[in-house]
Amino acid sequence: MVSSNPISLLTFLTLLFLLSPSSSAAPTADICQSTTSPPFCNSFLPKSPDSIHSHCRFTLHQALAHARTFLSLVNAQLNLLPSLSALHDCRCLAEANLDFLFQTFSIVNSTTTTLPYYDAHEMLSLISAIITNVDTCYEGLASLNSAVGLVDKVLEAISFDKKLYSLYLSLFKMGWVSKDLKAPTFPKMNHFGAGKGQLKLKMSPKDRAYYERLVHRNKPPGARRLLQTNYQDDGIVVNGIVGVDQNGMYDFTNITAAIAAAPNKTTVAKGYFLIFVAAGIYNETVLVPKEKRYVLLIGEGNNQTIITGNKNVVDGSTTFNSATVELAASPATKSYLGRPWKQYSRTVYMQSFIDSFIDPVGWKEWDGTLNLNTSYYAEFNNSGPGCDTSQRASWAVGVINATVASNFTVSQLLAGDKWLPPTEVPYTGGLIS
Ligand SMILES: *[C@@H]1O[C@H](CO)[C@@H](O)[C@H](O)[C@H]1NC(C)=O
Ligand SMILES: *[C@@H]1O[C@H](CO)[C@@H](O)[C@H](O)[C@H]1NC(C)=O
Ligand SMILES: *[C@@H]1O[C@H](CO)[C@@H](O)[C@H](O)[C@H]1NC(C)=O
Ligand SMILES: *[C@@H]1O[C@H](CO)[C@@H](O)[C@H](O)[C@H]1NC(C)=O
Ligand SMILES: *[C@@H]1O[C@H](CO)[C@@H](O)[C@H](O)[C@H]1NC(C)=O
Ligand SMILES: *[C@@H]1O[C@H](CO)[C@@H](O)[C@H](O)[C@H]1NC(C)=O
Ligand SMILES: *[C@@H]1O[C@H](CO)[C@@H](O)[C@H](O)[C@H]1NC(C)=O
Ligand SMILES: *[C@@H]1O[C@H](CO)[C@@H](O)[C@H](O)[C@H]1NC(C)=O
Ligand SMILES: *[C@@H]1O[C@H](CO)[C@@H](O)[C@H](O)[C@H]1NC(C)=O
Repeated sequence: MVSSNPISLLTFLTLLFLLSPSSSAAPTADICQSTTSPPFCNSFLPKSPDSIHSHCRFTLHQALAHARTFLSLVNAQLNLLPSLSALHDCRCLAEANLDFLFQTFSIVNSTTTTLPYYDAHEMLSLISAIITNVDTCYEGLASLNSAVGLVDKVLEAISFDKKLYSLYLSLFKMGWVSKDLKAPTFPKMNHFGAGKGQLKLKMSPKDRAYYERLVHRNKPPGARRLLQTNYQDDGIVVNGIVGVDQNGMYDFTNITAAIAAAPNKTTVAKGYFLIFVAAGIYNETVLVPKEKRYVLLIGEGNNQTIITGNKNVVDGSTTFNSATVELAASPATKSYLGRPWKQYSRTVYMQSFIDSFIDPVGWKEWDGTLNLNTSYYAEFNNSGPGCDTSQRASWAVGVINATVASNFTVSQLLAGDKWLPPTEVPYTGGLIS
C-alpha cells in the first residue's frame, strides 16, 4: 500500500517552493534591480549571492549602527551649538528613528514569511516614518544660514543614511510584504461602550473616589453618591488620576504639566493614566512625548473643554516643532485649513464644524507653487459658518463624495477596528450617518 506517489511529491515540492520563494540565494545585482536605487544597492550590499532576507538583515544592522552614530553626532553638535532648535528637532527625530528601527528588528530578525496585512502595514509605516524623519531633520538644518559650518557634517551623514533607509524599505517590501496584500474586511462598526458615549472604566476604590470628586465637583457632596458613574469589571483599566483646572483647585492648571506627570514607558496591562480636564479654554500646544504611552484625556464635553494653541513659524519655532495639533485659533489672525509644507501633504476635513475664523479661501500656499501639485486637500459634509467651499483655493481637490471620504474614516485610515475595540474607547468606524 505504501507506494511513492509522484503527484503528491510534486505538490510537496511546489508547496515548499511557494513557502520560501525568496529565501534562496540570488545574485546581488538581480536583487538590486528591484530597489529604488540599484547603483547604491550594488555598492552597498555584499557581492556574494544571498537571499533577500539576509541582505535585508545586513542592511538593518548597518542602519542601526548608522542611526546610533548619527545620534551621537547630533549630540556632539548640540554641545557646541546648544541653542540651535533645528538640532534639537534632529535629536528628537534621531531618537525616534532608533526606536522605530528596533521595532522592525523583532520581525526582520525572527521570521522570513510574508506578514499579515496589519503587521506589514505597521512595519512599512515605521520604515517610511524613518525616511520622513531624516528629511525633516535635513530641511530644518538646510534652511539655516550656511555660516553654521558645523552642521555640514550632519547634512553629509543624512544624505547617506537616507539612501540606506530607502534600501531597507525596498528590501523589506520584497522580503516580507506580499504583492497582492488585501485588507481584511470588518463589518461596519460603531463602538460606544456601555451606552452612547459612555466610557467603561475599571479602577481602584481610591482612584474611583477621586474621579467621582472631579467629575461631580460642582455638585454638593451629598448628591455625589447618587451620581455614580459607570464602573465595570471589563472597562479600560485606569491606574492613576490627576485633575486639571484653571482655578488651581486640583493637581495642575495646564494639560502639559499633567502629561509630564504621567509615568514613562508603561504597558497597557498596567493601565491608563487618566487626566481629567475641567471645562475651560486651555491656551497651550499639547505634545505627548513618546515615553508617555497610555494616557487618557477626558474633558467635560463638546465646546466645554477646549484646547487652543497657535504655534507657527513666525513665532521663531522650527517647522517640525510647529507641526503640531492645532485645535482652535485666535480670531484675530487669519487661519487656514492647511498649507502644503511638504510634498504629498494631505488633509481632509469631514463631518466637522468649521468656524468663521477660517479664511474663505481655506487653503494657503506655503511658498509660491511649491508642493501644490502633490498636495491633496479635500472637504466632505462639513457644517458651520466657515464650511462654504465656493471661494476655496483652486489648486485644492475641493469637495469629495462619500465613497472617496470613506477612505479617510477610522476603520479605513487608522485600521481602528483592529486595535480600538480592546481599548473600549467609544468611536464611529465609518462616516457619521
Ligand atoms: C537575531 O536572530 C538570531 C538567530 O535567529 C538570534 O541568534 C539572535 O539572538 C537574534 N538577535 C536579537 C537581538 O534578537
Ligand atoms: C503649567 O503648570 C505647571 C505646574 O503646575 C507650572 O509650573 C507651569 O508654569 C504651567 N505652565 C504654564 C504655561 O502656565
Ligand atoms: C520620564 O522621562 C523623561 C525623559 O527621559 C524624564 O525627564 C522624566 O523625569 C521622566 N518622568 C518620570 C515620571 O519618570
Ligand atoms: C496664547 O498664548 C500665547 C503665548 O503662549 C499668546 O501669544 C496668545 O496671545 C495667547 N492667546 C490667547 C487667546 O490667550
Ligand atoms: C460654544 O460655546 C460658546 C459659549 O461658551 C457659544 O457662544 C458657541 O456658540 C458654542 N459653539 C458651539 C459650536 O456650540
Ligand atoms: C511638481 O512640480 C515640481 C516643480 O514644479 C516638479 O519638479 C515635480 O516633478 C512635480 N511633481 C509631480 C508629481 O508632478
Ligand atoms: C452630512 O452630515 C449630516 C449631519 O451633519 C448628516 O445628516 C448627513 O447625512 C450627511 N450627509 C452625507 C452625504 O453623509
Ligand atoms: C466619487 O468620486 C470619485 C472621484 O471623483 C468618482 O470616481 C466616483 O464615481 C464618485 N462616486 C459617486 C458615487 O459619485
Ligand atoms: C481608497 O484608497 C485606496 C488606496 O489608496 C485607493 O486605491 C482607492 O482608489 C481609494 N478609493 C476611493 C474611492 O478613492
